[in-house]
Amino acid sequence: MRWIVEPDHESLSHFAAGVLLDQVRDVPESRLGLPTGSTPARMYEIAARRCRERYLCFAHVETWNLDEYVGIDSSHPSSYRTYMREKFFRHVDIDLDRTHIPSGDPAILQKRFPAATFDEALLLECQRYEGLVREAPLDLTILGVGRNGHIGFNEPGTPFDSPTHVVLLDESTRIANAPWFPDGCVPERAITMGPSTILTSRRILLLASGSSKREVVEKLREGVVDESIPASVLHRHDDVTVVVDIEAAGESAQ
Ligand code: GLP
Repeated sequence: MRWIVEPDHESLSHFAAGVLLDQVRDVPESRLGLPTGSTPARMYEIAARRCRERYLCFAHVETWNLDEYVGIDSSHPSSYRTYMREKFFRHVDIDLDRTHIPSGDPAILQKRFPAATFDEALLLECQRYEGLVREAPLDLTILGVGRNGHIGFNEPGTPFDSPTHVVLLDESTRIANAPWFPDGCVPERAITMGPSTILTSRRILLLASGSSKREVVEKLREGVVDESIPASVLHRHDDVTVVVDIEAAGESAQ
């Protein structure tokens, strides 16, 4: 695991955007694993701007998002489909047919799996997504991390060998994500790539910004590999770079 400490969120975002753009320049048909959340938002903004300036081309890229909420429409303002469209996809020349996000949208699932109940359809959707991701390795996956160490929506205790699955969100995760649901209706479940799905990526970049991530960053630094800290599974991968800003690095930045 390589560690990079950047002064602040802005420079962390520039670094991450650089990694993303270099990957696409080197391999225009890259398969990318992509995150959501507040940490990568600025990375997407910078990458989209630099893409336009340099005529870099996302046209042949294929993207695979880590996760999505269950039970809301994909057009809901707080769905990860909406996040990706607003923060990134509509600003670059990506082909939307090549952007993949697991679906927890009842109408889409009903259409996709007409004979199934909603819960059966969710399981089928997980299998469908897992199968598609595994058709070929992702070249680069970028991850954020939750305060409790979750990656994607893999909450503490998730077996490391889990594939794409449905999760019941931790209360702490629902509270952390509540600002995006002003109506107070934070979904209770989500679909996420599992730790084992994430580990199939050739390269992984994990981003952690702000003092609320300090504790989990310290635990990652300690090197303990334990299912109570989902991000610690990354110690089992041989090409992981962790980029933190000074606030997240805390003591370990000294
Ligand atoms: C959500 C996402 C994760 C993300 C995490 C941290 O729960 N599902 O993929 O890493 O939030 O988000 P933030 O960057 O906003 O702290």
